[in-house]
Amino acid sequence: MAKVEVKEAKGKLGVLIVGVGGAVASTFITGTLAVRKGQGMPIGSLTQLATIRLGKRNENRFPKIKEVVPLADLKDMVFGGWDIFPDNVYEGARHAEVLKKEDVDKVKDELQAIKPMKAAFDHNFCKNLEGKNVKTGTRWEWVEQLREDIRKFKAENHCDRIVVMWSASTEVYIPMAKEHESLASLEKAMKDNRTEVVPPSMCYAYAALSEGCPFIMGAPNLCVDTPAMWELAEKQHMPICGKDYKTGQTMMKTVLAPMLKTRMLGLSGWFSTNILGNRDGEVLDDPGSFKTKEVSKLSVIDSILQKDLYPELYGNVYHKVRINYYPPRKDNKEGWDNIDIFGWLGYPMQLKVDFLCRDSILAAPICLDLVLFTDLSARCGFSGIQSWLSFYFKSPMHRPDQVPEEDLFIQHTILKNTLRTIIGEPTLDYLE
Ligand SMILES: NC(=O)c1ccc[n+]([C@@H]2O[C@H](COP(=O)([O-])OP(=O)(O)OC[C@H]3O[C@@H](n4cnc5c(N)ncnc54)[C@H](O)[C@@H]3O)[C@@H](O)[C@H]2O)c1
Repeated sequence: MAKVEVKEAKGKLGVLIVGVGGAVASTFITGTLAVRKGQGMPIGSLTQLATIRLGKRNENRFPKIKEVVPLADLKDMVFGGWDIFPDNVYEGARHAEVLKKEDVDKVKDELQAIKPMKAAFDHNFCKNLEGKNVKTGTRWEWVEQLREDIRKFKAENHCDRIVVMWSASTEVYIPMAKEHESLASLEKAMKDNRTEVVPPSMCYAYAALSEGCPFIMGAPNLCVDTPAMWELAEKQHMPICGKDYKTGQTMMKTVLAPMLKTRMLGLSGWFSTNILGNRDGEVLDDPGSFKTKEVSKLSVIDSILQKDLYPELYGNVYHKVRINYYPPRKDNKEGWDNIDIFGWLGYPMQLKVDFLCRDSILAAPICLDLVLFTDLSARCGFSGIQSWLSFYFKSPMHRPDQVPEEDLFIQHTILKNTLRTIIGEPTLDYLE
């Protein structure tokens, strides 16, 4: 396959994060700054740690991804963003209490220098939050202000390129409406200030793409998963990807469900429950925001198990997802799964998973990889939905004529084969 022409990663890469003061964003930024000072290990990050096999199995070529794929260097990353709270990122990280004070203090000066810009925020899309660091104006005025924020940040920090990433709270569920069906109708809805069909996240994405910046959607918000935004991304030749970082429980689901299907074992029920006590948990306590998350978490099993092809195994699955806000746990989520399966002659068995994870510790390396890979996509000239990054998402965006790929290991193969193609190496069929 022909090698892709990749523009050099020269100069600074600006990373603008929506929700920059939150748990995920502050953990990602703190960790990246610490790693580049040699004061931490980027555990969980493929761009920093993983190798990639090139050639046949007998060639023994396993370079690190970052040695052969032209990614931006961590030392060239500059961070900024927006939040509804005015606290700088040091204060945000201390509030989130994901990392210990001694770890956050290692990069205190750099974190204190990152002060959130005023957010485009509407309480109706995030019922359990209220903050004062917010913009005024109509939806279209927000877009213009956000575009100005991006231009100003880029100029002041001498950035060559910018990536915009949503790590802000999950918005209230909205279904796809006719206003989202084309770019013209979305722009009209923004100009008419149709607040009920234009959540803040759409204003950020519209502003980012209009300024020639790729956009990553880390929450399950509809946002860029609409024909209007696909059109804008193609028009601007910019990559978009989402939705909803695949971290704890869903990562387990996308490993266990393919295992059942691969062995032709049946499934009758899957009950997933979570307790978490961070601000994300508080936001998800609102039924509207929970609905957005629930849709994202529920979609996974159906598309992996293909019940239409295997009605006798997966035609009658009871799947339930619960998220309970439980303050004492803070960011240390506990996710339980009770899985009722059946085998030979229909005999029942059970699987129990209890994952005591740390949400933001799992999300931070995903953020780093997504920023570096999305920037790579833009330099490769890729535009629109980047389904090769499905590996990182609970509800991977996909072309309307395609089914999503949810199996973690198939997603991993797609990701690595895309990297092989980018560097002009043959993709692997794993036979040799
Ligand atoms: N941590 C995980 O494992 C994980 C996994 C998948 C998805 N997510 C999603 O990532 C997002 C961030 O999670 P978190 O734990 O950091 O939450 P958090 O509540 O700690 O941080 C979110 C931040 O976004 C800010 N915010 C809300 N609306 C905003 C807006 N319109 N503009 C600017 N800032 C805004 C909030 O003030 C807050 O500081 C959530 O949507 C969450 O559902 C997290």
